[in-house]
Amino acid sequence: MKKFCLLWCLILTLSQDFASGEPSKSNLWNDTNIDKLKSELLKNYDRFARPENHNSVTNLSVGITVIHMDLIESKGILETHAWLKLRWNDGKFKWDPKAYDNITMIHMAADEVWQPDLTVYNSAEATLVDHFAKTNKLIYSDGSVLWVPTSKFETYCTMNLKMWPFDEQNCEIKLGSWTYNAYQLNLFLDKEKPAETDHFHHVEWDLLKVTGERHEKYYSCCPEPYPDITFYLQFRRRSPMFKAIAVVPAAVIVFMTLTAFWLPPQSGEKLLLNGLACVIICILLVYFSQLLPIFSAGSPLIVTFYSNTLYLLCISFIISVIVINMSRNRKRSPVPKSIKSFFLDGFIGGIFGGKQGDTVADSQAEELKESEDHHIIQMTATSPKIHNEWIRLAIVIDRLAFVIYIIVFILMGFLHFV
Ligand SMILES: *[C@@H]1O[C@H](CO)[C@@H](O)[C@H](O)[C@H]1NC(C)=O
Ligand SMILES: *[C@@H]1O[C@H](CO)[C@@H](O)[C@H](O)[C@H]1NC(C)=O
Ligand SMILES: *[C@@H]1O[C@H](CO)[C@@H](O)[C@H](O)[C@H]1NC(C)=O
Repeated sequence: MKKFCLLWCLILTLSQDFASGEPSKSNLWNDTNIDKLKSELLKNYDRFARPENHNSVTNLSVGITVIHMDLIESKGILETHAWLKLRWNDGKFKWDPKAYDNITMIHMAADEVWQPDLTVYNSAEATLVDHFAKTNKLIYSDGSVLWVPTSKFETYCTMNLKMWPFDEQNCEIKLGSWTYNAYQLNLFLDKEKPAETDHFHHVEWDLLKVTGERHEKYYSCCPEPYPDITFYLQFRRRSPMFKAIAVVPAAVIVFMTLTAFWLPPQSGEKLLLNGLACVIICILLVYFSQLLPIFSAGSPLIVTFYSNTLYLLCISFIISVIVINMSRNRKRSPVPKSIKSFFLDGFIGGIFGGKQGDTVADSQAEELKESEDHHIIQMTATSPKIHNEWIRLAIVIDRLAFVIYIIVFILMGFLHFV
């Protein structure tokens, strides 16, 4: 019993010590005016309840400053870094500045006060609802709240890559409350500066314009309208590098294809030149298919240009093989009459040097005769005149093809790039 009493007394004295220490004024510091004001403002404050009566509206003004953006072509996603400027009125935060040492504005942490449940409707990351960084909010004595969160939006964007790499893109960011209707939370564009681009900086893209629009939409679920603010971003690719990668090779390939027709008709290097051009095109096409989405509306013109050039190269291959065959093999039979009169003696022959006695054709025939003298032994039956005719025919075909190809390339250039 004595022991128990002793223990009891000990507990009593200890608890008395605690009790007397607890309400003591022995704080190391005194409350500042901001402490007092904040504790009074936040007393019983529910940060999840909209700070108006249920039948009155909270006006939210929205502005945007676009800082940076990235277009992920392969996924069709626009990544935007921006500062939103959100302003609304919180009726619970009103005080008389005179009573608090002339304090007209205080800072509060993002989590301390109510904030509208603004959501990006066309977000590409559906599970991430919180697009905004938790920056401080500024509370003014008249109850207005200013919040400028740094934000990152990933939004779907229907791209048009037809003019790639000189394309212009239009994307949008649609912001709206997820649960409040227009009678509870009404959205407005910021009156002073709805959209700013002064801080935008990007190596690849020029931001041409950002505009904002307010819409109101009725959904099938509910009779009330739901407002949204949609920002439209318009930007243009600045593409000196893509010019080097895509456009310069196109010009080189066109010249390679045309040059191949000016090689002597019997030279096999024609095939080499065409084959090289084919390889370059195939490498470029593989590169483009890695870089660009396959599902975009309309394939880029530069890609169709390359694949059409591949067709042309294939035809050029066939022409080369025919021409080489004509000029290398010693034919026993002369050029058929109809072909001869059309290609060699007619109008075409006159233009492209197919007429008899044309110096180029004759000298090439001579050359061939000399270079292949050791072949000729068993072919002496062929008259050099007949062979000369075949070579002239080959040259005419080459030059005719050259002119046709120039016309086709010019037409293609007009179709694709003008
Ligand atoms: C707190 O306020 C009291 C009364 O005004 C004053 O005596 C005391 O020095 C203050 N303490 C500090 C740490 O400022
Ligand atoms: C909200 O905006 C509407 C329309 O501009 C205005 O009539 C209303 O008074 C505003 N409400 C508040 C609480 O500011
Ligand atoms: C608050 O501001 C008013 C007017 O500017 C001034 O007269 C008053 O002395 C100020 N009060 C304090 C506590 O600073």
